[in-house]
Amino acid sequence: MKFFVDTADIAEITELNDTGLLDGVTTNPSLVAKTGKDFVATVKEICRLVKGPVSAEVTATDHETMLAEGRKLAGIATNIAVKVPLTMDGLKTCKVLSDDGIMVNVTLCFSPAQAILAAKAGASFISPFVGRLDDIGHDGMALIADIVQIYNNYSDFQTEVLVASIRHPMHVIEAAKLGADVCTVPPAVLKALVKHPLTDKGLDAFLADWKKTGQSILGGN
Ligand code: E4P
Repeated sequence: MKFFVDTADIAEITELNDTGLLDGVTTNPSLVAKTGKDFVATVKEICRLVKGPVSAEVTATDHETMLAEGRKLAGIATNIAVKVPLTMDGLKTCKVLSDDGIMVNVTLCFSPAQAILAAKAGASFISPFVGRLDDIGHDGMALIADIVQIYNNYSDFQTEVLVASIRHPMHVIEAAKLGADVCTVPPAVLKALVKHPLTDKGLDAFLADWKKTGQSILGGN
């Protein structure tokens, strides 16, 4: 399973990228607005830092302008995945950009039918939003199960399932159990994945016992 981090914050991306666990980055207009920084400059910097796909979203809603924006974003770096919304214009734009060899992430997916269309349009990634579905009393993970099952039925569907709108570690675990390709995870959730109280307790005990021996791995003969 691949891990993308879901943020446009350069400091957070740098910190997590240094762990060697990061496979890519997703941004969206809300995350960019939160940084207060210039969009294109920020995306350029992220692409310099991270080798894997970096999603940058178009903000137009009509096909022609989306296409122009998508081509401009794709020109920033070879690891850009142009993010388009799951609308008919977005799908049309996805098809043209994908045919040109540009990675496209189709975002704001809330149904299996939408995911089928994105795969037909040649998307590199489909982004189903699990948290936002859970928020309104639906089952976000059921959508992931449906999409994974459908995509597995067709070898010509090359689209990767990128689980988005992740709120907590259980979303990541459930997505992995279902065989989703990628999780895009907020920095706080990514950091929470490593935590377990028994790990902390066990380490404290090991270190206390080790101290009693008076030995040092680096200092001795
Ligand atoms: C990422 O591609 C999505 O835009 C993001 O995961 C949405 O998350 P949210 O529902 O927490 O805003």
